[in-house]
Amino acid sequence: MKAINIKEKFSKFHKNWHPHQIAVVDDMQVILAKLKGEFVWHSHDNEDELFQVIKGTLHMQFRASTGETGSEGGIRTEIVNEGEFIVVPKGVEHNPCTKNDEEVHVLLFEKLCTAHTGNVKHERTQTEYPKI
Ligand code: NI
Repeated sequence: MKAINIKEKFSKFHKNWHPHQIAVVDDMQVILAKLKGEFVWHSHDNEDELFQVIKGTLHMQFRASTGETGSEGGIRTEIVNEGEFIVVPKGVEHNPCTKNDEEVHVLLFEKLCTAHTGNVKHERTQTEYPKI
């Protein structure tokens, strides 16, 4: 058992949208990812997903219901600031984004069986996460 330094782990990879596993907790995993730009709309039928922002500002997009306050073009964006986290419940369509060319560092906590892009196959989809 050793302390894990999140900043040091982030220094070990550079690729955007590429999750790296830093720990396993029972059937859950702790993942780090560097996000830049827009990802891909997807949902996870059976798994919740936690995003903790370590650096930068995450813009998590959700499908808005008609006339929902704060929505634009059918999309509601939830801002997640550094030091905050958001839980995306199972079945909820989401699309993580960053703005102004910012690279955002996030820690994710989710089940080991959670597929990267859920119900969607995309050129960005990763099936294996390097362990660092
Ligand atoms: Ni997801």
